[in-house]
Amino acid sequence: MSTTKSDLDLQTYWMPFTANRQFKGAPRLVKSAEGVYYRSRDGRRLIDGISGMWCVNAGHGRTEIVEAVQRQVAELDYAPSFQVGHPAAFELATELSAVLPGDLGHPFFVNSGSEAVDTALKIAIAYHRRRGEAGRTRLIGRERGYHGVGFGGTSVGGIGPNRTPYGPLLPGVDHLPHTHDPERNAFSRGQPKHGAERANVLLDLIALHGAETIAAVIVEPVAGSTGVLVPPIGYLERLREITAAHGILLIFDEVITGFGRLGSPFAATHFDLLPDMVTLAKGLTNGTVPMGAVAVRDEIFDTFMAGPEGAIELTHGYTCSGCPLACAAARAALEVYRRDGLLTRAAELGEHWQSAAHDLRGRPHVIDIRNIGLTAAIELAPVPGKPTVRGMTALRRAFRKGAFIRVTGDTIALAPPLPITPAQIDELFALVAETIEEVADL
Ligand SMILES: Cc1ncc(COP(=O)(O)O)c(C=O)c1O
Repeated sequence: MSTTKSDLDLQTYWMPFTANRQFKGAPRLVKSAEGVYYRSRDGRRLIDGISGMWCVNAGHGRTEIVEAVQRQVAELDYAPSFQVGHPAAFELATELSAVLPGDLGHPFFVNSGSEAVDTALKIAIAYHRRRGEAGRTRLIGRERGYHGVGFGGTSVGGIGPNRTPYGPLLPGVDHLPHTHDPERNAFSRGQPKHGAERANVLLDLIALHGAETIAAVIVEPVAGSTGVLVPPIGYLERLREITAAHGILLIFDEVITGFGRLGSPFAATHFDLLPDMVTLAKGLTNGTVPMGAVAVRDEIFDTFMAGPEGAIELTHGYTCSGCPLACAAARAALEVYRRDGLLTRAAELGEHWQSAAHDLRGRPHVIDIRNIGLTAAIELAPVPGKPTVRGMTALRRAFRKGAFIRVTGDTIALAPPLPITPAQIDELFALVAETIEEVADL
């Protein structure tokens, strides 16, 4: 079947984060998916190099998840979580807490990563207020960070084009510098050596604003959307030290790094660091039903539970917070991850993945390759005076060749479903290599 405008109205739908008019001139449409492959609307097989959008960690079409959702929708299609409950939300909360590190738990359910981030930021401010530190309202993000598209997440986010159209955003927000340092760290395998000292800028922000005004620092342990920026050795440890010493909450945004992406269940487990909160989404339901969560350490939860019993502890929540379908999908996804050993599989594949990625060194215009766990970025030099053109052309060519990838600017990002085999990794990188050759002469 062809994908022309004649058999499908492409004009009406306003697509997110897409150059709508360009896309609709040459659409890329997928119709079905199974395992690590999509099938395009015109019947071609594409290897999924990015787990849909960093979320289908267990691979596509997992029957356990499909059947769990089908059973749930037939039994209890919807129930609220305000003042009434249903078992699946409580069961999921317990099961999720059991895989989270340390005393992180008590998940507050939402519908997306963006909502998880905005919820975590509100919890941080409300937590300090409850403890008598109402002055702690300032939020610190990081340049090149991506925390979704709510006003909170946009404000702490550090990607210029995502911020500038929307005016002043939240007041009282500041940013740490990003950690990308190609001069010193290009072609690092795993964590780069240089840059831990950039965490010390937090001390400058504390000197500037006063620790007593700062509620929280939020970072992605590995920045995904901006092109897989792996934290330099010692960097996250330093952030943890400084925040702990100054009573500032540390939030790890694990929307991408959660559920096995780095070869451990969470980045917090991987780096052996305990943040005060984590935000989750994407892989929580294997991408099948929208869901996010904020998990908090016991002390934060207990602080909220200390007031008068009849009072609502957090005046916050969504119509679909903990809704039955999402809970059923998440419980089934957790079971698949556990049973198939997927939360640590990226560590087993890591060597093969790393060599396959770094074998692209020397291809035309490749100026950096970065990797950790089952994720990698291949940064291409921009066409002079035309940033993003090489990247977007690569995306289009790869799709035509049979590789489903993501690009950010001129960087190709890869993070396939965790069940991928070594032979499929080779298939993916062979297509990426051909694509890079094809965009050499732009
Ligand atoms: C680290 C991080 N936080 C938050 C989000 C936002 O999640 P959502 O798109 O589900 O709102 C994303 C999405 O890519 C993300 O990567």
